[in-house]
Amino acid sequence: MPIDIPMAAKKIKIAIDGPAASGKSTTARAVARRLDYLYIDSGAMYRAVTLAALEAGVPTTDETRVAELAGTLEITFGRNNEATEIYLDGTDVSAAIRAPRIVAHINPVAANSRVRQILVAKQQSLGKSGGVVMDGRDITTVVFPDAELKVYMQASAEERARRRVAELSVKDIAADFDEVLASIEQRDRADLTRIHGPLKQAPDAIVIDTTALTIAEQVEKIYRLARDIIERKD
Ligand code: DC
Repeated sequence: MPIDIPMAAKKIKIAIDGPAASGKSTTARAVARRLDYLYIDSGAMYRAVTLAALEAGVPTTDETRVAELAGTLEITFGRNNEATEIYLDGTDVSAAIRAPRIVAHINPVAANSRVRQILVAKQQSLGKSGGVVMDGRDITTVVFPDAELKVYMQASAEERARRRVAELSVKDIAADFDEVLASIEQRDRADLTRIHGPLKQAPDAIVIDTTALTIAEQVEKIYRLARDIIERKD
């Protein structure tokens, strides 16, 4: 539901970071929908570069070739507010980027400083006029340190694993809790220890622990924070 104040002069940037499976994307998308803002899933861009490398037969560990490839790709988003719709050189890769083989090969891509430079520049350009909610790992710290609203979402690894298992079970996919937990912990380690663009809390980010919150409560919290800022900006 768009808010009933004129938006022209007041479009802010909302940056949301947090670990894998913290509910960021679902929350960020819902906040964007409520504000009638654009939602950008920055993780989808790292996934798209990984997919392009795998399809081109370039090992994701080959920093130079992956960076060269990333520089040639046209990555665009559809304006679908229900799910991330992402195109790689005009082809819809929204489903392909979610395949498990992408996550298996993504760490070297996310750690590649030249790839990060290219994607950060694209992200900054997509959000430069405001009216955007972007989520990821380095959005509050590197991409939009100037965002009017910065949020760091966290939840315990156990709770994130529990949610992931429940999500998969809705899709009739059986998953072992311990395996899912181990994979989440492995992704946390990769995200936290990366030299370029690691996951970290910006000093001025508002921390929301979602362990005991529903998605609706998370959305409401961020929406209210955003609305206060937008109203004060007037
Ligand atoms: O949020 P996600 O699971 O779709 O992210 C996929 C990968 O991309 C994950 O390994 C972390 C990385 N990523 C990143 O390095 N920086 C971002 N801004 C977003 C995601």
